[in-house]
Amino acid sequence: MALLKIACMGNPVLRRKAAAVAEPDSEAMVRLVQDMRETLADSRGVGLAAPQVHNGVRLILFSVPGERNTEGAVPETVLFNPVIEPLAEETAFGWEGCLSVPRLRGLVPRWTHIGYRGLDASGRLVEREARGFHARVVQHEADHLDAMLYVDRMPHLGLLTFEEEMHNFRQGMNETAAGAPSSD
Ligand code: NI
Repeated sequence: MALLKIACMGNPVLRRKAAAVAEPDSEAMVRLVQDMRETLADSRGVGLAAPQVHNGVRLILFSVPGERNTEGAVPETVLFNPVIEPLAEETAFGWEGCLSVPRLRGLVPRWTHIGYRGLDASGRLVEREARGFHARVVQHEADHLDAMLYVDRMPHLGLLTFEEEMHNFRQGMNETAAGAPSSD
């Protein structure tokens, strides 16, 4: 096992479309999953995609803590070749951060209700429905496989803030006109 180096915005590896994985249970993929798991735990993030650790394959890893999800915690999930479809047209703004975009947080519109599927570490089909923060995390991580960062989804960069300014940012939003996007 090893801690992997995380690529930050500007590194071309984050801007290349990742390749589908034919054998999730191959030796190389088993090792990659282990290393990504260790790297994610060390970084205290909620999710990680393989391109973020300089590996251009369609693999994401995430878990959703119970306090951040109305439908309870989602256990650690390994997903190869994920496919997402919206189950409703509704989108909502919510805060996101990314290990590849350190120190920043942004308000990002995402579908609020999705279905997703992919293969787990043993190559078995995983198929789920997700709402709210769970749905947000899956969309964020899957975007990495298509060379997208959350900032690319933001309608304007006025919704981007440094973490240490978040309290000021929220206060500023409360003082401005209604219609500002709400956080979840
Ligand atoms: Ni990210």
